[in-house]
Formats: sequence, C-alpha cells, structure tokens
Amino acid sequence: MKQRDTWKSKLGIILAVAGSAIGLGNFLRFPVQAAQNGGGAFMIPYFISLLLIGIPLMWVEWTIGRFGGGFGHGTAPGIFHNMWAKNRFIKYFGVIGIFGPLVIFIYYTYIESWTLAYAFFSLVGKFGQTTDQKGMLSLLKGFQGIEQNDFFSSIRCAYIFFLITFAVNTYIIYKGISGGIEKLCNIAMPVLFACGIIIAVRVLTLGAPNLLNPDWNILNGLGYLWNPDLSSLRDAKVWLAAAGQILFTLSVGIGVILTYASYLKKTDDVVLSGLTAASTNEFAEVILGSSIIIPAAFAFFGPREIGEIAKGGAFNLGFVTMPLIFQKIALSAFFGSIWFILLFLAGITSSVSLAQPSIAFLEDEFNIPKKKAVIIFGIASFILCQPAIFFLKNGVVNELDFWGGTFCLVLFAAVETILFAWIFGMEKAWEEIHRGADMKLPRIYKFIIKYVTPLFLILILMAWSYQQGIPILLMKGMANSDKPYILGIRLMLILVFLVLGILVKIAWQKRKNTKK
Ligand code: PFF
Repeated sequence: MKQRDTWKSKLGIILAVAGSAIGLGNFLRFPVQAAQNGGGAFMIPYFISLLLIGIPLMWVEWTIGRFGGGFGHGTAPGIFHNMWAKNRFIKYFGVIGIFGPLVIFIYYTYIESWTLAYAFFSLVGKFGQTTDQKGMLSLLKGFQGIEQNDFFSSIRCAYIFFLITFAVNTYIIYKGISGGIEKLCNIAMPVLFACGIIIAVRVLTLGAPNLLNPDWNILNGLGYLWNPDLSSLRDAKVWLAAAGQILFTLSVGIGVILTYASYLKKTDDVVLSGLTAASTNEFAEVILGSSIIIPAAFAFFGPREIGEIAKGGAFNLGFVTMPLIFQKIALSAFFGSIWFILLFLAGITSSVSLAQPSIAFLEDEFNIPKKKAVIIFGIASFILCQPAIFFLKNGVVNELDFWGGTFCLVLFAAVETILFAWIFGMEKAWEEIHRGADMKLPRIYKFIIKYVTPLFLILILMAWSYQQGIPILLMKGMANSDKPYILGIRLMLILVFLVLGILVKIAWQKRKNTKK
C-alpha cells in the first residue's frame, strides 16, 4: 500500500478539524438562524441537538475515518465498502461524501472571497459616507453584480477577489496535509481567536449606543438570545433549523472529518481529540459568534429590526449591518477589517477541508500524485464555481446550499450512523472508538449512538423532506424567470454526481482486474 500523508502532531489535527468546523457558519449563519427562529427559542433545541447528534457524529466520523485510513481509503466510497463488504451498492452511496463537500465548496469559496474584499474595503475606507442600511445594501448588491450603482459598475471587483481566494485555497491544498492545511491552521486559528476576542470585547462594551432607546443595549441583546423560550420546543421548524445548524457548524455528516481522520495513525486517540475539536467550535459559535452580531445589531437597531434584517437575506447581518455598526464607532477601519479578517480566516480553514475529500479520492483510488490531483480538482471546481458567481441573483447559491449544505448533510449523517452502529455493529464500533483513547466515553453514549442519533436524524430527514424538500423540489414560490437557472444547476449537480459514481465504478473495476 502506498504511503499516505499524516498529521505532524495531535494539536495539528485538532486545530485542523476545529478550523474546518469554525467557519462562516459560526459567525454568519448561526446568528441569522438564531434571529430567524426567535432568539431564545432557538438555543434549547440547539444544545439538545449538539448532545444527541453533533458530538456523537464527531466521534463516529473520527472513528470511521481512522478505520478507513488503515486500509488506504480516505473517502466514503472506500471506507463504506470496507465496513459493509457484502453490499455492492454502499460505495455509490459513499459518493455523497465527496459530492456534498464539493457542492458546498463551490459556493463557500465565493462567499469567503467577499470577506477578503470587505476586509480590504474596511481598510481603505471604501464605505466612506455610507451610514444607513439602504446604502450598505446597495454597496453589497453592486459588488455582487446584482445591480449597477455608484459603488460598482460590474462584477469585476468581486471576480478579482474570487480569483485571489481560489488561488490561495489551491496553493494550500497543493502543499498537502501537514505542509499546507496543518501549517495554515496552526497560524490561522490563534489569529482567528485573537480577532474574535477583540471584536467580542468591543461589542460587549458598547453599552446603550442608541440614546433615544436606552432599552436597546448590549445586555438586552444578550437576553434576546439567551432568555430561554420553552414554547419553541413544540415547533418543528425550530428543531430542523437547530439540528441543521449543528451539523453544518461542526462539519459533520458530509465526509470531511472522515477524510481528515483517515490521516491519523491506527492508535491515535479520537475520543478526546474529537471532543476537543467540537468544544473549540462551540466556544467560537456560542461564546464569540453570539457575542458579536446579535447584541451589536440589537443595541443599534432594536429587536424588531434584527428579525427583519435577518429575513431580508442571509448575508445582510454580516455584510450590511456589521460594517454599518463599525462606521458608527471609533476606529472603524480597524474594527471593520478585524471583523472581515476573522471571517476570511474562518472561511479558508473550512474551504480547504471541503476540497480534501475530492483530492483524497483521486489520490487513494486512482493513485494520482497529489499535485496532479490538485490540478484536476482546481480546474473542475473552478468551472463549477462560475454559476454561483454569475447567477447569484437567480438563487443559485441558495439552491447549492440546500442540496449540499442541508439535504446531503442530513442524509449522509443518518446512513453513516446506521452503518456504523448497526451494520458494522455497536460492540465492534465501541471497541473501535476506544482504540488508543485518552478517555472513556460515558456508557450512555453507546445507547445514544445506537438508537437516539439515528432516530433523531431519520425524523429530521422525514420532517425536512415533507416541510421543505417537496416545496423546494417543485420550486414553489420561485420567480418564473429564475426557474431555468435552478433547473440548470440541478442538471449540473446530477452530472457531477454521475461522474463521481462512474469514477467509483472504474476504480473498483481496476482494482478487481489487478487482483486477478
Ligand atoms: N463548518 C463550516 C462552517 O461552520 O462554516 C462549514 C462546513 C465546512 C460545513 C466543512 C461542512 C463541511 F464539511
């Protein structure tokens, strides 16, 4: 078997997994989800989902990944095949573990490139005299090429920042696991935390900036998120949103952690390391993520407007409200750029992880050298990124996010857990989890992983398909003019999936032939 890459240190892989988990999801998606689902109403289902699906899946993926790495497989087709050798179909299901991350990658890198652009704009004072929501929104739309205005006449500027971001991503994966990703995370993660703490402290000391409304203050802003609202427990929509956020923010249920863990050694600990990575992500989300956008927006704009802004668009709180708030405080260029640098670092440590399953697949299953694999991936993903850039206004990014960042996530998570606990078998699974472990899991988790996590995921999948899946599939409420773009994107996704499926078939065929 050919020598695979490995992580240099235990801290290295923990930071890399935490880097994958901590991303735009923590600082942009989380506050929007919380605001759209009524603030305090969101947090109870959120924590329950963390304990019952998020953390168990973290352990499951680390364990399965390390197991697969032992056989020279770093992606789901090969790993699933090893776990259930009798089933000829399961390797094709594993394609989701490459497809899903790739789909997220193609819109995620574009949004990541906005954060780089906005860091630059903050530094050079591009926001100038823009002091209201309308002006800031217009700037964002001009930048995204959705409208032509005084700020931007075309998408050219956004495209340049996209090219830079894409090039940096490609360079890092080109340098490999320990030489690229691990090095990046060793530097980026501490800087990210420093930036996060600076911004959080600044926001938390804002007091009551709106003199006309002294109730709009930071303390009440925190209360908006943290005063629990038990009535939410009966609302299925809030549960779906909370569980979806947990999977997305932890990067679990899609094959990425699987690939990272496949570079572990057979007896490297996964229990404590997985828990540490998950906890680091939760610190970033629950402590830092929730101390920035929501309290700041609450203090400046009040509780009613937060909900409205969040409904207006997923990126409005981060790219419209936040720069506006920084415009209103001293040292605005400094705080504004720190905010967007934080987002950029959070983004890039996640996007490189999304690329890795594709690279590992080419390397492991086709024996393609790393550098060549990166070039193939670079060209293919660059082409696939284009619709997200040029057809953003037609809802293409939302569509990609639905299939990659929502549907595939829950589906893959459910099957992966069932495969592990029921097909591989819970006794063997429990033993595999604890191989080389630095601590023992509480026994209750044997029960949770076997029954609760799969059941919870199946329920979510069903409720989701019913509540959101069918209307989305039928393009309900979508403007007629957008429908051709959405159909085009679906066609593209089906093609990508088929190509990956065929590649799996070829790889297995080849292996069979060489065995003979
Ligand atoms: N966890 C990342 C975030 O919170 O932004 C996004 C992400 C990365 C999701 C990697 C899924 C994944 F596999």
